[in-house]
Amino acid sequence: MIQQPDCDRPALVAPEITMADLVLPNQTNYYRTMFGGDAMAFMDKAAAIAALRFCRLPIVTASSEHIDFRRPIHEGEIIEALARVIYAGHSSLVVRVHVYGEKPLAAERRLCTTGYFNMVAIGANGERLPVPCLLLEDEQARCEWAMGERIHDAIKERRSRGSTDRLLMPEAPPES
Ligand SMILES: CC(C)(COP(=O)(O)OP(=O)(O)OC[C@H]1O[C@@H](n2cnc3c(N)ncnc32)[C@H](O)[C@@H]1OP(=O)(O)O)[C@@H](O)C(=O)NCCC(=O)NCCS
Repeated sequence: MIQQPDCDRPALVAPEITMADLVLPNQTNYYRTMFGGDAMAFMDKAAAIAALRFCRLPIVTASSEHIDFRRPIHEGEIIEALARVIYAGHSSLVVRVHVYGEKPLAAERRLCTTGYFNMVAIGANGERLPVPCLLLEDEQARCEWAMGERIHDAIKERRSRGSTDRLLMPEAPPES
């Protein structure tokens, strides 16, 4: 068991959470496969549960990274998310989410979508709350931590440049 470097707060192992549902007709497109937006909402919720179970603090979603819709999930299939905190910063967490589609009668499961969600712990007055340190219990946790660290560093770099925020953030509409 290894504690993440440079962290002197209490350290915890992050549990993997699973969340399952059935894909209903109102969640599908012309091809009767699941809408990306519904899949992302499902992933965001799974990420929130994983983060809450880890830190037990109020959190918000700050951003998501690298969401890849690799294979479609079909109407009537079981959708299942496996989510785990893979990196803890000072007040932010990176949560990895893997989404599987499963044919309910054949018990065949395949990895369909992957993504990373950044959650930030904030208090009632908007102040950042320190999250626990992460205990890395095995080789997989160590590999995933390295990925989470890369994501966190890339976000810091992006925010320090401010480039995308300034280029993509529209001006506030004029008051009518
Ligand atoms: C997310 C939010 C709290 C960040 O506020 P901020 O003042 O810019 O944050 P700070 O600069 O103090 O950074 C705090 C932490 O958040 C992280 N962070 C900030 N913006 C981030 C982003 N866009 N993506 C990922 N992480 C981010 C920082 O890296 C930092 O992490 P660390 O403490 O682990 O080093 C703020 O932008 C917010 O409240 N957004 C709305 C969230 C929301 O409503 N989500 C629901 C979606 S509709």
